[in-house]
Amino acid sequence: MSDPLRCVVLISGTGTLLQALLDAISAGAVAARVVGVGADREATGLAAARTRGVETFVLPLVRGGDRNAWDEELAQAVARFAPDLVISAGFMKLVGAAFLDRFAGRFINTHPALLPSFPGAHAVRDALRAGVKVTGCTVFAVDEGVDTGPIIAQTPVPVLPGDDEARLHERIKQEERRLLVDVVREWSQHHE
Ligand code: GAR
Repeated sequence: MSDPLRCVVLISGTGTLLQALLDAISAGAVAARVVGVGADREATGLAAARTRGVETFVLPLVRGGDRNAWDEELAQAVARFAPDLVISAGFMKLVGAAFLDRFAGRFINTHPALLPSFPGAHAVRDALRAGVKVTGCTVFAVDEGVDTGPIIAQTPVPVLPGDDEARLHERIKQEERRLLVDVVREWSQHHE
C-alpha cells in the first residue's frame, strides 16, 4: 500500500474546512495526512491543528512589504513538508509565480460560490446582492488568475428567503466541508 497522501493546508480564519478534513482523516474516511498547516496570521483555526499535533507556521504578509519575497518564503515553508497536495482552505491571500510554479498541478482552493460566478473575497455577499436563487461552492485547481483555475468539483446551495451573508455562508460551508473531503479522498485514491 502507498503512503497516505501528504497534505499541507493554508488558512486565514476559523479553519472549519481544515477541521472537517482532519476529522475525516481521523475517522479513517480519507487516506491522507495533514503534515502541516500554514497561515498568514494567528488564525483561530491553527489551534485545531496544534491540538492534534500537526506542525503549524505563520507567515504574515507585511503591508507594503516585498510580495515576491513573501511568496518565495511561503513556497519554502510549504515545500519543507514535501506535500503531495497543497490546499488553500479559507486562505485569503493570492500567491504568485514562485509558489504556483513550485506546486503546479497539486495546489487546490475552495471557494464559496459556483465559479466562474462571484470570484474574489466577497463571494457570498456578491451572490446575495445579485439576487441569485442558487449559489454553492467550488473546489478548483489554482492558476495565476483570481479564482479562474480548472474546476474540480462543485455543489449547489439554494439561497433561501431571509438569508443574510452569515447564514448563507454557513449553509454553503456545510456543503463545502463535504466537497473538500470528497475531493481529497478522490485525490488520495489516485495517489501512488
Ligand atoms: C470558506 O467558505 C472558503 O471558501 C472561503 O473562506 C471560508 C473559510 O471557512 N474562502 C474564500 O472566500 C477565498 N476566496 P473556514 O475558515 O471556516 O474554513
